[in-house]
Amino acid sequence: MTTPKLKEILISEKQIQQRVLELGKELEKDYKDKDLVLVGVLKGSVIFLADLSRAIEIPHSFDFIGASSYGAGTTSSGHVQITRDITFDLKDRHVVLVEDIYDTGNTMEKLIGLLLLHGPASVEVCAMLYKDRPRVKEHEIRYRGFEIEDKFVVGYGLDLDQYYRNLRDIWVMG
Ligand code: IMP
Ligand code: MG
Repeated sequence: MTTPKLKEILISEKQIQQRVLELGKELEKDYKDKDLVLVGVLKGSVIFLADLSRAIEIPHSFDFIGASSYGAGTTSSGHVQITRDITFDLKDRHVVLVEDIYDTGNTMEKLIGLLLLHGPASVEVCAMLYKDRPRVKEHEIRYRGFEIEDKFVVGYGLDLDQYYRNLRDIWVMG
């Protein structure tokens, strides 16, 4: 097996910034007068959440939940491990789960179930990337940054074996 390398830029920093501002404005409008909590999925959503939160100019809070599904390499293990639970009180609050990428849906399935146990007023999902691929179960991803082909990507928080999260653009590996 050859080691995957950075192949080409799929989405540039400029395109990302523009889209994040648009998503922020959309959330701002939808959650006006609501108690909004962004829940970022560690670690991939950290950079997206930092930008998204600052694009939302209404009072809101955020917390993190830890989940890990990919082992080493570029294929999902299918097993979703919770590495950190919510510490914030979500009861009667409006939650937006912030994900780096919606891929097989395994993570989403597990996390939505877990969040609902906290008794929130509502739960919606905001994913920076939405992979166009077949899934066993489709979840409603209300806020989508970009829809992409079924390719392995890194950058803007997304990793390959924990590397490349720092890249400002989103790259395809090849
Ligand atoms: P899912 O459970 O298969 O939907 O995968 C969700 C998680 O897998 C994401 O939060 C990412 O951490 C990781 N993941 C899925 N696709 C990619 C990719 O193309 N690049 C890097 N990480 C990915
Ligand atoms: Mg990952």
